[in-house]
Formats: sequence, structure tokens, C-alpha cells
Amino acid sequence: MLTNGPRGTNDILPQEVGKWHILEGKIRAWCERYRFGEIRTPIFEHTELFLRGVGETTDIVEKEMYTFTDRGDRSITLRPEGTASTVRAFLQHKLAGQAPLQKMYYMGPMFRYDRPQAGRYRQFHQFGVEMLGSSEAIADAETIVIALDILKELGLNDLEVHINSIGCPQCRQVHKEKLMEFLGDRLSELCPDCVSRFERNPLRILDCKNKKCQAIVSDAPAVMTCLCDECRTHFEKLQSYLQKLNVKYEVDTNLVRGLDYYTKTVFEIMYSGLGAQSTVCGGGRYDGLVEECGGPSTPAVGFAMGLERVLLTLEKMDIQLAVPQGIDLFIASMGEEAQVEAFSLLHQCRAHGLKAEMDYRKRSLKAQMKQANKLGAEKVVILGEEELNKGQAIIRLMETGEQLEVELSQLTEKLKG
Ligand code: HAM
Repeated sequence: MLTNGPRGTNDILPQEVGKWHILEGKIRAWCERYRFGEIRTPIFEHTELFLRGVGETTDIVEKEMYTFTDRGDRSITLRPEGTASTVRAFLQHKLAGQAPLQKMYYMGPMFRYDRPQAGRYRQFHQFGVEMLGSSEAIADAETIVIALDILKELGLNDLEVHINSIGCPQCRQVHKEKLMEFLGDRLSELCPDCVSRFERNPLRILDCKNKKCQAIVSDAPAVMTCLCDECRTHFEKLQSYLQKLNVKYEVDTNLVRGLDYYTKTVFEIMYSGLGAQSTVCGGGRYDGLVEECGGPSTPAVGFAMGLERVLLTLEKMDIQLAVPQGIDLFIASMGEEAQVEAFSLLHQCRAHGLKAEMDYRKRSLKAQMKQANKLGAEKVVILGEEELNKGQAIIRLMETGEQLEVELSQLTEKLKG
């Protein structure tokens, strides 16, 4: 199997990487405008961080983590998401002491032992933002609108925004009791995972992928009906900020997220054209996580966007990102001496900022011209023995076919212009 990568992983080949660069560039530019600073955390962390952070009863922790014991006998996990690591770094570096409000973003690979299918991989890439230090609904709105601004600039205007509030721990206790009462009589109909969830964390049953469980919980009491005054007002304020910016959204009282750390706001941005994996972006508020990880009580909110899903959505909508094509210059040469001269010239041109290429296989002039064409070269410099003896080279403008003879000493100047 040396010729196949592990299941659920993808190679991003040189001909495909251009669209990734554009996507990442646009994301970085928006993060700068919004003043989110990039954080780069390790690819692996102590397993404990995710057990505590993401939650022991979540699918991610129960079924999807890449966990191993390292040579020092420590349990290590490849990060399945970026929030827990960001919170860990926030505490480790005492960032709250530097500024009480922290706005951070990250971009990079995440790892989940998921069942691979279109839009779902075992190594995938997330862009995420985390805003730590504000309990105000305006912070929730800020994260939702940066996601929408980025998607809009890519041409994705019509994605669905679903929002919900799952309340604070007090609201959830009320909801948990109602839910357990509702599910108590139907326990025998639930899948074995949900039977165990019933005792450990019944809210997770609302997120079960099993069709039968989904049908049962479709009539279950929604958390929304159990919100305390503070959570209700918070959710109303979030909506007024979104309305002020003319953001179209849907309140989806069935929306619960697959991670345990959420409180109050949860949201997802979806594109139904993606089929089963329709969520491009998911996030919400997690006011208890910093404390759960051993820090002082710190409200926070954020989201993560699946970059493969963004690219798939663009593809489905037939939107091409404007990847720059072509090169400035190809240097064709004939003969040993001319090739050495071409190599030196190539080096000078690149030092002047030109995108330049040559042949490295001693091919015929015809083959070299063909290659120049294929690479989309704007100009070709032709260096033959004869030209070299005269101290000259030929510049060919590929679009018009026009050719001019130039002194070698003036060549780089001419090419720059
Ligand atoms: P999540 O919903 O688990 O949230 O993941 C966010 C996004 O990552 C998903 O909406 C999806 O686009 C993408 N994604 C997840 N799993 C896969 C996969 N196996 N293959 C491809 N794409 C995938 C989180 O990870 C939270 N940390 C988000 C967050 C940040 N909440 C607050 N702050």
C-alpha cells in the first residue's frame, strides 16, 4: 500500500494548491480587518485536554480521536479541533493579563477518525476564530459576521445561517429533566449508544446520527423552551445585532452541536447542495470551557469552518477562484554554453522578481517552445550558439509572435520592463 495514502486523507497537488492559497489569503485579510491575530498551536496535545475540553460523551472523544502513547508513556492526541488548544494556550501564556479581550484565529489540519465520504475526511482543514473575554451578544454577532463576510467575498452569498440558544448550565438542568422524562418511556427504542448517553449526557441524544433516534427526539422538548431570562435576552440581543446588519438567519430550535462545551448561542452555516455533510461552518459560545481547563471564569465564543467544504461548495456552485496562471518568462537555449548562460540569466531574472523557467533536460528548441506555451509564458528568450557568439539573445513576445534581438548586457533591463 505504499502507493496509497491512509483512508480519509488527501494530497493537495501543486495544480490544486492555488485555490487553497487564495482562500487562505482572503481569510487572513479578513482576520486582519477584524483584528483577529493568528495563533499556531501544536498538531498534538495531551489527550486529557480534549477529554475535558470537548467532552467525554461526545462522538469526537468516544469514537474519533487519533490517540497514542508516546515513547515517554504519555497519552497524546492529534488535535480533532482547535478550540481546546486555543484555550490551553490562552491559559498557558496568561493572555488575559496582556489584554482582557483576545481575538484569535487559526488555520490548519485537524484529525478525526470519521467515516470518510464527500466532505468528510480523517485529516481535514479548519479555519477558526475564538474571541475570549466578552459575555456580550455583540461578540457572538462579530464571529458570525466575519464568517459571512469571508463566504460572501468568495461568492457564497446564499448559505443558510441557523442559530439557536442551548442556554446556560441552569437552563440545561431544567431541560435535562424534561428530556429525561420524555425519553424515559422510549429507552428501549433508542440505539445502545443513546441508552448509555441517557444516564451520562442525555443532550447528546439530540445529536445522534441514528435515524430511529432522530425520529424519536424530533418531538422532544427543545432547550429553547427552558431558557432563563438572561439567556433569552442574550439570544434576543444577538438577533437584533444580526438584523441590524441585514443578516438573514433562521432560528433552529433543534440545532445542538456535537461538542460539550457550548453554552447559550450555537450556530451553523450550511449549504444544502453538499448533501449529508452540509455544514460549512459551526460554532457558538463556550462560557465554561476556560474554567473547565483550570483557568478563571472567562466567557468566549467562536466557530470553525471546514476549508474542504468551502472549496466543495464553490465547486458545486461553479465558482472559480481567480488563480494566477502563467509565467513571465521562459528561457530556451541550445548547446552547452548557451545553457550555462541561460541558467545564469534565469537566476538574475528571478532575483528581479520575474516568474521564470527553463528546460532542464536538453530538449530541442521546438520542444522548449512547446513547453513555454504550455506554461503560459509571456515572453521567451532564445539563446543559441549563434546569438551567444554575437553577444545577443532573441526575445519573443508570445502573444503577438514579435521577435527582437537584444544585447545580452541589456537583457535583464529589457525583460523587467
Ligand atoms: P465542528 O462542528 O466539529 O466544530 O467543526 C467545524 C467544521 O469543521 C464543520 O462544520 C465542518 O465544516 C468541518 N469538519 C468537521 N469535521 C470534518 C471532517 N471530518 N471532514 C471535513 N470537514 C470537517 C468545531 O470543531 C469547533 N471547534 C468549532 C468552534 C470553535 N466552536 C467554538 N469555537
